[in-house]
Amino acid sequence: MQNVEGIAPIVDMADLAPCAAAHRIVRLAERERALAVVWEDGHESRLHYLWLRENCACPACRHPQTLERSFRLIDVPEDLRPLQAEVTPEGALRLRWPQQGEATAAHESLFDPGWLRAHCCAEAARSSRRRCIDTWDAERLRTLPSVDHAEVMAGDDGLRRWLAALARTGVALIRGGPVEDREVLRIAERVGPPRATNFGLHFDVVSKPKPNNSAYTDIELELHVDLPNWRRPPDFQLLYCLHSEAEGGDSVLVDGFRVAEALRAADPAAFELLASLPVDFRFQDEGEDIRCRAPTIGLGPDGEVAEIRFNDWIRDVVDAPEGRLDAFYRAYRRFWRLLRDPAYQVRFRLAPGEMVAFDNLRILHGREGFDPATGRRHLQGTYLDRDLVYSRLRVLQRRG
Ligand code: OGA
Ligand code: ZN
Ligand code: ZN
Repeated sequence: MQNVEGIAPIVDMADLAPCAAAHRIVRLAERERALAVVWEDGHESRLHYLWLRENCACPACRHPQTLERSFRLIDVPEDLRPLQAEVTPEGALRLRWPQQGEATAAHESLFDPGWLRAHCCAEAARSSRRRCIDTWDAERLRTLPSVDHAEVMAGDDGLRRWLAALARTGVALIRGGPVEDREVLRIAERVGPPRATNFGLHFDVVSKPKPNNSAYTDIELELHVDLPNWRRPPDFQLLYCLHSEAEGGDSVLVDGFRVAEALRAADPAAFELLASLPVDFRFQDEGEDIRCRAPTIGLGPDGEVAEIRFNDWIRDVVDAPEGRLDAFYRAYRRFWRLLRDPAYQVRFRLAPGEMVAFDNLRILHGREGFDPATGRRHLQGTYLDRDLVYSRLRVLQRRG
């Protein structure tokens, strides 16, 4: 996603998000199974020979229209190494590979220096490419990032700013929209097709006579994520305000990643337990019975907090050995107490024509109870998949 100011690409790497080169290659050295590329800033990239070969972007190795790999790694010997490696006068890396099978000539690969540096396997480079998020607490996030409705709907720049805030902060407002039925779906469509659930393609959050869900009442909703009873809960939630005349009903948000890290620091045993003990969730109504079992804190491959599943009213009967319940209840209640700590909470009131969007697996949301006798309260919601949110952002961030 990142792009640096520098020299425009000199080799077409069949990548629609080209990487400008900020540094030149000054030296090459052959190592055991890799080529060492030394850059003018002293950084060294070690590029494995098979890695180099399979990333050749010539039209024979990458399909020129689909831009997908047509080279097959299985067809070259495991100990493949280039016959020759050199830096061209323009600054590209040129490799010549030995003749293979039916091929009548040795194969030649050209690599753009910006592309090579952007894909460097060194630990520092790899960690700089990992997730870029800013976790927050009440002190850090005094005001929610916000973009005007007109800018999101009309231009790429507004859409890009909204999505960039959503990816980094996990939450972003859209302000100044019309009070119109299903405007939430028109906003979602700027990103891609909305994600449908058992509540439909969109849902109306109003106090209903026969609610099948706590949100469709007037009661307070404690901090929660939506639909942890699904194996794949919705990734992003959009809540558009059409009416907020009723007394009460203010919104509250907490960065669950921040709170989980606070728990890890304060009580590592409680964190470990919530990250490993699966919890059952269940939604039931006349037509559905949707269940999933997953830990409260989901971890990624590097031990980082990757998702939160906390929604106490659809938590099912605990199915765990009695001997573990004491530790579970202690850890779970400790996490819940931290979520309730105002130091982590951002409170606000949505006005008609305003929409809040947030990362449903990172940011917990809640609302105060409200009194329908004092006026209307009506939000419309929908969901979006993470893949589409990040994809739209990457496309908008492309630079030629
Ligand atoms: C929901 C929800 C919040 C609100 O519908 O999932 O949490 O402010 N609604 O009513
Ligand atoms: Zn090739
Ligand atoms: Zn909710």
